[in-house]
Amino acid sequence: MAEFLELLAGNKVAVFKQPLHSKIVAETLAAGMKNSTEPFVLVSLKKIVEKFQEWQRELPGVMPYYAVKCNDNIVLLKTLGSLGVGFDCATKAEIDMIINEDIATADKIVYAHPIKTPEYLKHAHKLGIPRCTFDSVEELYKMKALAPNMEGILRISCGDKTAERKLKYKFGCDPVNGAPKLLRQAKEIGVSVVGVSVHVGSRCCDPRAYERAIAYMKDIFDDGISMGHPMTVVDLGGGFPGINNEKISLAAIGKCIIAALNKYFPESEKYEFIAEPGRYFATTPFTAAAKIFGRIKVSANRITEKEEDANKDGYMYFINDGVYMTFSCKHFDGIHPLSQPLTSDDGTLPRVPATVWGPTCDSADIVEAVTYHRKLNIGEWLYWEDVGAYSTATAVEFNGFPKAKFYYYADQETMKMIKSGDNKIHI
Ligand SMILES: Cc1ncc(COP(=O)(O)O)c(C=O)c1O
Repeated sequence: MAEFLELLAGNKVAVFKQPLHSKIVAETLAAGMKNSTEPFVLVSLKKIVEKFQEWQRELPGVMPYYAVKCNDNIVLLKTLGSLGVGFDCATKAEIDMIINEDIATADKIVYAHPIKTPEYLKHAHKLGIPRCTFDSVEELYKMKALAPNMEGILRISCGDKTAERKLKYKFGCDPVNGAPKLLRQAKEIGVSVVGVSVHVGSRCCDPRAYERAIAYMKDIFDDGISMGHPMTVVDLGGGFPGINNEKISLAAIGKCIIAALNKYFPESEKYEFIAEPGRYFATTPFTAAAKIFGRIKVSANRITEKEEDANKDGYMYFINDGVYMTFSCKHFDGIHPLSQPLTSDDGTLPRVPATVWGPTCDSADIVEAVTYHRKLNIGEWLYWEDVGAYSTATAVEFNGFPKAKFYYYADQETMKMIKSGDNKIHI
């Protein structure tokens, strides 16, 4: 049981004496929800703090500006704000949430959308947000007309082939041919360019992509400074992994970035190194849990599509969360979370093929096409770890099914740290 409840941004946080595994907390919650028809998402504040500590360790000197679009959960934002993190916003709504909820001040926001909605740009300017990104001459004119005091960060296109979501097609100018021309045009129009940004692509698996971008940035800085632009900001964008694995880790990326910054920008005190991580912070703190409300026995080959399974049993489970809700990350982010039953067995029961379906009438609402679990009962819960990126932020209530409700938890030490603000990033 929790020791006490703390309020954070108007939300109750269950505070436990010691850190607890998300499965244990989810089990306790589910046990009290026998009649509930709603799924839930559990948020661990300790995991948010741990991500921040890992960032400080692996990328010292690089200030993270969390990309709000990835997950705009207010408690996540409040926790990051208390740690001194800045914010990458792309809309008026995101900006207002950061300012009005007292999460951070305008100077800790970068308006990181190369093609800005005119009304949002005026609003950002009025609030005193100092910088925005741009990648075209058209945007330079827009900035000059609507936000004359705002400084520009030039977004270049320098994508990584291994990235699973490539952003280079939509945004970013050519770093060799386009950037010098835009710097000249900015000078003529009267927009001050203070730095260069990039997004190597989401879930980039090659740390050298960042090194390549930093090398381009160095040349662009040389050009810009020679034209009289006060260039100081090196913005490394997003793409940092939510989960470390054998293919990629923050440690591997950090090592490459720090070496490249030392090589190309050795006088670090002259520069501001920043990044816009989204999934890096949002993925692991969020655990989803959903209840089985329907179970159909079928031939296993209907699930596995293997002839030899024709005489075996398989199950179709229908749960109260789906791809329109928390599992929207499947479509929007190409992430395929894997379920576990919330109540474990001793491992001796046979695992049978199963399909996990979302609750809506849409046949595309399929959470897991083929998985293997012991035979599960109606009323049992499944859970999924690490589901915080581009999931609840893109959830809708299609077909009238409610979105997951959030529950928050922390241990006493974590809560103290968040409340005191002692752990603030100093860069
Ligand atoms: C400008 C910008 N910065 C940062 C991010 C965050 O990317 P990620 O979640 O891969 O770190 C995005 C994602 O689309 C983006 O467009």
